[in-house]
Amino acid sequence: MTDVIAIDGPSGSGKSSTSRGVASRLGYAYLDTGAMYRAMTWALLQRGVDVHDPAAVAAAASEVVLTSGTDPQAPTIAADGVDVSEPIRGDAVTAAVSPVATVPQVRSQLVALQRAAIAQSTGGIVVEGRDIGTVVAPDASLKIYLVADPVARARRRALELGVEDAEAMREALARRDAIDSNRAASPLAQADDAVVVDGTDLSLDEVIDRIVALARP
Ligand code: DC
Repeated sequence: MTDVIAIDGPSGSGKSSTSRGVASRLGYAYLDTGAMYRAMTWALLQRGVDVHDPAAVAAAASEVVLTSGTDPQAPTIAADGVDVSEPIRGDAVTAAVSPVATVPQVRSQLVALQRAAIAQSTGGIVVEGRDIGTVVAPDASLKIYLVADPVARARRRALELGVEDAEAMREALARRDAIDSNRAASPLAQADDAVVVDGTDLSLDEVIDRIVALARP
């Protein structure tokens, strides 16, 4: 069985850069499950589906074909054969993704794809998301729950996106966290056996070092 490292945590905690860095250092594949929820959302918006109508979302989602590239140096995500790596980071998708991710049929469809990607990886894989340690890969050899102070998270995300209003960003992240944490179907949650890493006062390299050391004690 392939070695799985699960990295969960709230939006803006630095999961993506950290997970890619850990995968690159260990020579592992990398799966960004958030990108899958975003690509699904992109495809639903393209089809004109009302993302606040769970029945419509569930019906349309079953038609969407997602394909993930798992190279940590150049991860890709395609919806119905179209590379959507860039548009899934835009405002329209970011605003609509949380309600899409609350729909149980969407979650079971994507969890099945995520488990298939894990099963196909031979040399180890780092999987990042919200429910990896709890639902997708409960047998992962290492589970990290990555957190950071909300103000630091907002500042980092604002800087990444070139947004000036860090306070509005903090509010937007808090809104997304609330939806992600309070939904009924596999909410954002820390697994009992996860190691909490707080990145607030650490550089990216320090966070990666810490996780690599835990992976290779
Ligand atoms: O990590 P991200 O910001 O790209 O995630 C986008 C959205 O998808 C976010 O609202 C949480 C949701 N998500 C989820 O519900 N489960 C996952 N495993 C990954 C992301």
